[in-house]
Amino acid sequence: MINEDNNILPADRPKSAIIGATGFIGSAFFEAYRKSNSDFTATSRRGGPGGLSKLDLLSPDISGLKLSRTGHKDALILAAVAGIDRCEIEPAARKINVDGTRDLIKQLVAEGIKPVFFSSDYVFDGAAGNYPDDAITRPITEYGRQKAEIEAFLKEKAQGNYLIIRLSKVFGLKKGDNTLLDEMAGIMSRDGEVRAAYDQIFCPTLVRDVVGAVARLQARDCRGIYNVCFPEKWSRCDLAQALAQKLSFDVSRIRKVSLDEIGFKARRPKNTSLIPRKLLAEIDFKFTPMAECLERVAENWSKIR
Ligand SMILES: NC(=O)c1ccc[n+]([C@@H]2O[C@H](COP(=O)([O-])OP(=O)(O)OC[C@H]3O[C@@H](n4cnc5c(N)ncnc54)[C@H](OP(=O)(O)O)[C@@H]3O)[C@@H](O)[C@H]2O)c1
Repeated sequence: MINEDNNILPADRPKSAIIGATGFIGSAFFEAYRKSNSDFTATSRRGGPGGLSKLDLLSPDISGLKLSRTGHKDALILAAVAGIDRCEIEPAARKINVDGTRDLIKQLVAEGIKPVFFSSDYVFDGAAGNYPDDAITRPITEYGRQKAEIEAFLKEKAQGNYLIIRLSKVFGLKKGDNTLLDEMAGIMSRDGEVRAAYDQIFCPTLVRDVVGAVARLQARDCRGIYNVCFPEKWSRCDLAQALAQKLSFDVSRIRKVSLDEIGFKARRPKNTSLIPRKLLAEIDFKFTPMAECLERVAENWSKIR
């Protein structure tokens, strides 16, 4: 049984703007914040139905949102080019992830709104792993460099009134969402071959837990850098094997590979495991155990096997 307590968000969290409410994580915040208190603002690149205001990070302008005048305190910055290879090859990614995000942050700071920036374990080189919240960043991908630049910009410009949320790989539990476990289960259900790196070590985290933990950090007016991830490290290969067992999939069809053998445009950091020390010390929060997530995904797919 998935622990449903994490769905209950603190009622005293500050009024927020969700910038980038149509992406994978942004839409999870949008849904959860809408259910628990509809008084917030949400934006997407083009605006749209359901009360979404328009905000394009290529030319951000928050004046029309009237955030401070309407009592907003925080802005969750979830809009970004989040594809690692896209950042490596598309110059426009830097315009969005660095230039536009800086511009947005300047405007938020000028209005006294706290930027809550979603960063990544890719700010590290992945050589040592087990990075605490205050570890020194050393990115090896363009995506990681862009995240590290914004982290540094916030430290310099936001006068201490900022929150940096460092995420590891985030996944969902909806069938067909094509996130980490669902994608593997889909391949297994077609009796395909799963290629899984034994040397990619990370802290996969359920999207619902990211929402629950961040809402609690907001409610406590936490500031600075927080690793927000499930406090257990996994290799992609071990995850595939655990899921295969649940789905009675032949584990010999899992091909153990090294990250070096996969033809990514950008060389990936190998061990980006994070230690969410500050988060666990400062807020009362229990992450959903991986065994429960594997069980749920296996249930989603077992009927068609
Ligand atoms: N998912 C993960 O595992 C993970 C892990 C670590 C960190 N993060 C970070 O968490 C944040 C959210 O990730 P995600 O997985 O939810 O990404 P996502 O699904 O790709 O969503 C990104 C959102 O950004 C929007 N966007 C892109 N360019 C924009 C622009 N010029 N102006 C306004 N909006 C723009 C996209 O809108 P369109 O649909 O209109 O393009 C989309 O809604 C990102 O910063 C990502 O780097 C994610």
